[in-house]
Amino acid sequence: MTVQIITIDGPSGSGKGTLAAKLAAHYQFHLLDSGALYRLLGLSLHQQDLLDCLDSELEQCVKIATNLDIKFVTTESGTRIELDGEDVTQTIRTERVGEFASKVAVVPELRAALLERQRAFAQAPGLVADGRDMATSIFPEAQAKIYLTASAESRAERRVKQLQAMGLDVKINDILANIQARDKRDMERTVAPLKPAADAYIIDSSTLGIDEVFKLMTTFVDQQLAN
Ligand code: DC
Repeated sequence: MTVQIITIDGPSGSGKGTLAAKLAAHYQFHLLDSGALYRLLGLSLHQQDLLDCLDSELEQCVKIATNLDIKFVTTESGTRIELDGEDVTQTIRTERVGEFASKVAVVPELRAALLERQRAFAQAPGLVADGRDMATSIFPEAQAKIYLTASAESRAERRVKQLQAMGLDVKINDILANIQARDKRDMERTVAPLKPAADAYIIDSSTLGIDEVFKLMTTFVDQQLAN
């Protein structure tokens, strides 16, 4: 049986995570949050004091990436994410760990080490894969490729609301600067840069609500999966 794959790529804060989870529930497909893998690896390397010497300790870092002890546990209130048996669901969503992930993401050997782990999520009946290079590198065979973007300003506003809801005190200008820096790093890196696949359906969600974007996506995916 063919595993059907829907990829959603795009910059941080475009709403990918929420929409990928909604699509996975709608089609009853598995879900890959590939950003979480980069965040977990970034956190693990930071905990082992290796984040500032990725180049000189590359072999050890690759070994850690390959053997990363992580678990995605589905619970009634969402997914609990564990690293070495410890619940890091909240920790990995912080800006700080986002920065760790972004450092890891520019190292080709570390990206390669996470490749098989990501491909292993492709199981029947299907998968929704959320990330930056899902369509361009990891699942080029995907039946439906979506690129979800939004202006940096609207993404910063959404992120501030998310972080405030988590009880964190944040300033919009700091968040906007972070988003712009991360976009630059994601788009300009030489390995698997963030860009739409040639056959991706591009959606700009700057002025659209979740429900509107969801409708656009399901209309497109239904067409693609029927072909
Ligand atoms: O989507 P996110 O914010 O959780 O991603 C965290 C970082 O990981 C971000 O800087 C981009 C990087 N990333 C990547 O390079 N490739 C992916 N497939 C997913 C995330």
